[in-house]
Amino acid sequence: MNKITLLVTGGAGFIGSNFIFAEFRRGDVRIVNLDLLTYAGNPKNLESLSGNPGYIPVHGDIGDRELLRTVMTQFKPDAVVNFAAESHVDRSIVGPEEFIRTNVVGTFNLLEEVRTYWMSLQAPRRDTFRFLHVSTDEVYGSLSLHDPPFTERTPYAPNSPYSASKAASDHLVRAYHHTYGMPCLTTNCSNNYGPMQFPEKLIPLMILNALGGKPLPIYGDGRNVRDWLYVKDHCDAIRMVLDQGRVGEVYNIGGRCEMSNLEVVQRICSLLDEISPQSAFRPHASLITFVKDRPGHDWRYAIDCTKIEEELGWKPQETFDSGLRKTIEWYMQNTDWIDSVRTGAYRQWIKSHYGTP
Ligand code: NAD
Ligand code: TYD
Repeated sequence: MNKITLLVTGGAGFIGSNFIFAEFRRGDVRIVNLDLLTYAGNPKNLESLSGNPGYIPVHGDIGDRELLRTVMTQFKPDAVVNFAAESHVDRSIVGPEEFIRTNVVGTFNLLEEVRTYWMSLQAPRRDTFRFLHVSTDEVYGSLSLHDPPFTERTPYAPNSPYSASKAASDHLVRAYHHTYGMPCLTTNCSNNYGPMQFPEKLIPLMILNALGGKPLPIYGDGRNVRDWLYVKDHCDAIRMVLDQGRVGEVYNIGGRCEMSNLEVVQRICSLLDEISPQSAFRPHASLITFVKDRPGHDWRYAIDCTKIEEELGWKPQETFDSGLRKTIEWYMQNTDWIDSVRTGAYRQWIKSHYGTP
């Protein structure tokens, strides 16, 4: 059997790099990783793959049509998985332009080049080709406490520049399937956590701050709710959708694990108390501080993942406690990685956003 070639975009980021490792663990695959290596893209994530002839990193932009054309012609992928995006809500509030450039215009350019490539394929490769677009539950807007979780039929109501840009990209993907018959799939996933997440997002930020005895800045009153999923479970879901998902369909992916931000941070603190009984910062919960709320802060996200569970037989394998323990241990053991991301630009973001070094 011929080796499958995947074109992964944004594979040097958090979920993309976890996905690439999961794919190599599954079997013999060739992966081309097209990544612009923005502040969120870290080649160190994939360092252990250097020397693996099946791993081909390409430094570039999903908006670069010429580069895309070359990559498609040279490597002839069997599927494209699009992770590339600007992904941090707070940054989208401070500076939305990059979000439009990559998430909207970049996805459009990618779709155009993939369409040309896909149309050039002959059967049966043309029939088995897939374009999988990785998106977020944030496109559905915000729930109140007693609303039912988001289903694939929930109307889009994005509230932040980030979620609006992802919603726009989802609409383009939908249109390319509907108009051109392109074999597209879209996944909308809830909040991920796990190894290699850039420490500007809630869970890694809190772990690193707590380990360093720094304040744990909770926005508002900490009652906002998110639905947490361990990243490996997300990667497994993406693989199942690639293999068995119905073309043109959307699949919601979530952890059935709704928690308030305050609960999440308290869990991190109590696990750290247990793992590091000698820490000078015990009890870590004493580091919790409430800070000014995020503008337009969505109240609650929750995913109804019945469709992927029933159609494809996917279910999350990790509980929040088991996934969080693995995540904390990973951050405690990978100090080199942490040093590599805590660059001047990272420190600048922390200083400008939280007012603390
Ligand atoms: P991330 O910010 O960690 O990684 C994004 C990657 O995309 C980085 O490697 C970056 O260098 C690359 N990139 C950015 N602009 C690019 C461009 N123009 N061309 C090529 N590469 C570019 O993000 P993540 O958390 O890994 O998220 C991956 C995808 O999953 C995103 O599309 C995001 O919207 C979606 N998603 C994330 C979560 C989550 O909780 N993190 C949840 C649901 C969906
Ligand atoms: P985040 O990890 O940025 O993901 P998203 O905004 O995409 O859900 O934030 C998760 C939740 O944590 C969100 O409700 C905002 C909150 N939060 C804080 O309370 N303090 C922080 O320093 C950060 C980064 C997030």
